[in-house]
Amino acid sequence: MEELRDQVLLVTGGATGLGAATAIEAARAGARIAIFDVNEADGSAIARRTGGRFWRVDVGAAEEWAPAVAEVEAELGPIRFAHLNAGIMTRPLDVALSIPPIEDFAQGRYHDLVRVNIDGVVLGLQALLPRMMRGSGGAITLTSSMGGLAPIPFDPVYSLTKHALVGLVRSMGAAYASAPVRINAICPGGFTSDLFPPALHAIDSLTPHDVALETIDLLLRGATGEIRLILTKGQPAVTVAPPALAG
Ligand SMILES: NC(=O)c1ccc[n+]([C@@H]2O[C@H](COP(=O)([O-])OP(=O)(O)OC[C@H]3O[C@@H](n4cnc5c(N)ncnc54)[C@H](O)[C@@H]3O)[C@@H](O)[C@H]2O)c1
Repeated sequence: MEELRDQVLLVTGGATGLGAATAIEAARAGARIAIFDVNEADGSAIARRTGGRFWRVDVGAAEEWAPAVAEVEAELGPIRFAHLNAGIMTRPLDVALSIPPIEDFAQGRYHDLVRVNIDGVVLGLQALLPRMMRGSGGAITLTSSMGGLAPIPFDPVYSLTKHALVGLVRSMGAAYASAPVRINAICPGGFTSDLFPPALHAIDSLTPHDVALETIDLLLRGATGEIRLILTKGQPAVTVAPPALAG
């Protein structure tokens, strides 16, 4: 991880869970950390713990990105790495992982999900890529999910948003194949966090730390367009290739 020393890493959704773990691990390796989150208390605490800085940024608010990114670069230096990770689910999961009828799905919640999970990433790419391309390059890793590759019947609309990120990364990877900034995604299976209820945690569940180490490996060494699945504790993560189309 020596490549992280003195480099600026921006983490969205860095107040808790996976984003916080990525920030902590990267700071240990000497990175300068910028946290964007709406959770000010936990975000500020992680910034203090990592010697970094916290910005209250709602990733779905288009107008908040440019000024915040400019402040990060003015205070910490050029952004070299970004983990676009902020995400929400439709509703708290119940232990039975019950299947919600689609007609019960609130319109407002649908828009929240698309706004955070998709807009929050597209706006981030728009704000970051041009700056990073002008600088000395780097990498952006998105957090998708196992639910971006496989069905998750207990939250189909969440799965929709995470599939969208897989399509985005594969397509951006092809569009920016020779760019100095690599774009890829981590697809974790369930790991212990606020999104995943404690009753579902098993002794051998993935932890945010497990997923953060794989995320940092993607940031440092992942190919552009790569989709990497980490599913089971102790088992190696695998790269998931797009289907080979005939013709
Ligand atoms: N926990 C799992 O089992 C699991 C599995 C696969 C993928 N994921 C994905 O991992 C990512 C991190 O989730 P987590 O499990 O660490 O949960 P988490 O709730 O601990 O982290 C999500 C973070 O995003 C922040 N956030 C939410 N809305 C925001 C907004 N509008 N602007 C800025 N920040 C916002 C939250 O405040 C929180 O800090 C998410 O994208 C999630 O979909 C989680």
